[in-house]
Amino acid sequence: MRTILISGASSGIGLKIAHKQLKEGNRVSVGIRDLESLEGSIIDPRNWPKDQLILNKYDALDKNSSKNWISKTVKSFGSFDTLINSAGILSKVPFLCKDDDLDEIDKTMKINFLAVWELARLSWEYLSSSKNGRIISIVSMSGKRSKGDLAAYSCSKFALMSICQTMRNVGWERGIRVTTICPGWVNTKMAQGVKTIDKLDMSQPEDISEICSTLLKLPKQSVPFEIKINCNLEI
Ligand SMILES: NC(=O)c1ccc[n+]([C@@H]2O[C@H](COP(=O)([O-])OP(=O)(O)OC[C@H]3O[C@@H](n4cnc5c(N)ncnc54)[C@H](OP(=O)(O)O)[C@@H]3O)[C@@H](O)[C@H]2O)c1
Repeated sequence: MRTILISGASSGIGLKIAHKQLKEGNRVSVGIRDLESLEGSIIDPRNWPKDQLILNKYDALDKNSSKNWISKTVKSFGSFDTLINSAGILSKVPFLCKDDDLDEIDKTMKINFLAVWELARLSWEYLSSSKNGRIISIVSMSGKRSKGDLAAYSCSKFALMSICQTMRNVGWERGIRVTTICPGWVNTKMAQGVKTIDKLDMSQPEDISEICSTLLKLPKQSVPFEIKINCNLEI
């Protein structure tokens, strides 16, 4: 059984991952901004045992959030061995941005990149002591190549990719394995405004939760670092 911290579990990919992990009998500690947002959802806390699912307030923009989430998790579960980073925002700020856009660039870097670094850094002793720790980050194909002009988003995801590679290097001897999942479009709230591809032709959040589930079942000598998922052909 794994004990998993997961961000971004209030919707989309994170919600499906949390649900699947609960169904598979793992313990899950979700970090979300609005504790009431899970009511009526597939991980409504009233429908899951308290010793299997705990909710914690987590805002990637709040400095003390990670520390509080981790310490509450350790208090309830003793420790944890897995961190799944799914919280993220889509920014459309382009390369030729305006002065006014600088705040959004900063916010995008904080949520998509720096907050993951912070969470992983503070989780390190627990992931290490388990000797079989895992970190999975939902990056994006935008962390692999810059397509079009989503400058802020793409920069944040390249930076995330980079820190994940470093985490893999630093964590290897401690038994920590890191995986970056890099999808193209996934049919969630984030992709709602996309008109160039039908929703049913996008990857589905369930597909990503299935991949996570497989990753967590693999032995540490067979965990891939990077999984790229294209829902449409890119040449
Ligand atoms: N959908 C796609 O096409 C796609 C493709 C590639 C990669 N991704 C990545 O996949 C991840 C999940 O996205 P999604 O598609 O599931 O979108 P989503 O449904 O919009 O979910 C985004 C999640 O991030 C959380 N979040 C946003 N700002 C936060 C903050 N300041 N602090 C804590 N949590 C925050 C949201 O919480 P609230 O409910 O509180 O807003 C929500 O749970 C993101 O990292 C995204 O970049 C998505």
